[in-house]
Amino acid sequence: MQYKVFITRELPQKATEVIREVAEVDQWTDQLPPPREEIISHIRDKDGILSLLTDKIDSEVMDSAPKLKVISNYAVGYDNIDILAARARGIKVGNTPGVLTETTAEMTVALTFAAARRVAEGDRMMRAGDYHGWLPDLLLGSLLFRGTVGIVGAGRIGTAYARMMVEGHKMDLVYYDLRANDELERYVADYAAFLEKQGEAAMSCRRAAGLHELLGLADVVSIHAALTAETRHLIGAPELAAMKDDAILVNASRGPLVDEAALVEHCRRHPRFRAGLDVFEREPAMQPGLADLDNVVVVPHLGSATTWTREGMATLAAANAAAVLCGWPVWPTAADASDVAPFLGDAEPPHAAPSIVNAAELGLARWSG
Ligand SMILES: NC(=O)c1ccc[n+]([C@@H]2O[C@H](COP(=O)([O-])OP(=O)(O)OC[C@H]3O[C@@H](n4cnc5c(N)ncnc54)[C@H](O)[C@@H]3O)[C@@H](O)[C@H]2O)c1
Repeated sequence: MQYKVFITRELPQKATEVIREVAEVDQWTDQLPPPREEIISHIRDKDGILSLLTDKIDSEVMDSAPKLKVISNYAVGYDNIDILAARARGIKVGNTPGVLTETTAEMTVALTFAAARRVAEGDRMMRAGDYHGWLPDLLLGSLLFRGTVGIVGAGRIGTAYARMMVEGHKMDLVYYDLRANDELERYVADYAAFLEKQGEAAMSCRRAAGLHELLGLADVVSIHAALTAETRHLIGAPELAAMKDDAILVNASRGPLVDEAALVEHCRRHPRFRAGLDVFEREPAMQPGLADLDNVVVVPHLGSATTWTREGMATLAAANAAAVLCGWPVWPTAADASDVAPFLGDAEPPHAAPSIVNAAELGLARWSG
């Protein structure tokens, strides 16, 4: 085989087969991520690496692999990769948008209601044998129906979550994003008009002028922005203080967007405030004190954890790596979102890379049929 690829974890077999068609595969089979020195050692003679979000791929790692052509991330977020360093070296970086949008949005909904309705506390009470009969004031939570949901980062996942909350629970929507999301605003306006025709009250959707405006209005604040230098600690002590005392904060994006020490302190001081977390600032560790708080619900980074989604992510990540090594163009819709369906079905996938995030910067050709 002309090419060699390092795969940093066991992946669904279908994906590994796609890579094996074009390259010799060296696969890390431990449960735990390869330590940095192992990545550097394995990548030395490789043309590609299929990495996970736990693998930090910086300029030093890239420079240890002079033949490296592609870093294909098994995730939609790629904050574990130094994208500027990759661009400077002409290395293509792939990700897996689309297949995890609804899945991650559903986990965000699950965390929202687990926090609002104190599901984990109730579960613990039952298992401890502490439930002694129905009481009028047992574990009272918050009703979200017709409340206000705030989305920080109205991209693919933020939009999917917003629609679930607006359509399912008739919530008013306020979002904060660097870009206006006209499609989402139009969608909510049309849905509100439909409800009015049914004789029901409409709901509103608008873009907040600033983050603090959103924080003051929302009963639920859900974070969906990518992790960048600008969004690190986007939610710190001042932002938490700007939220309602009984608001719910949900984070299924990346841990460092929230200052976890500040969150622990805020939750301690505000027992009616609740948080639902899928991601943590120093994963897999949790901030000391977090686990002791009854008003926080935590799950171990399960946002995209369904069988279909994980298989889809593997297929896309493998297709990105294989396409780069074959010199194929990039699927045209990668930049704007999500039409990755042609790569996932049983039909022969197009000879293209589903999503190369730095395709424009590297001047890569787009697939045209
Ligand atoms: N928990 C999980 O398992 C899981 C799964 C998938 C994705 N994610 C995370 O979710 C993030 C979002 O995924 P996506 O597919 O919706 O990405 P996306 O690129 O479609 O959306 C991100 C949105 O954030 C906005 N944004 C960027 N910087 C901002 C800022 N400073 N302030 C406000 N908004 C800002 C962007 O304009 C964009 O609309 C990913 O980057 C990833 O880190 C987590």
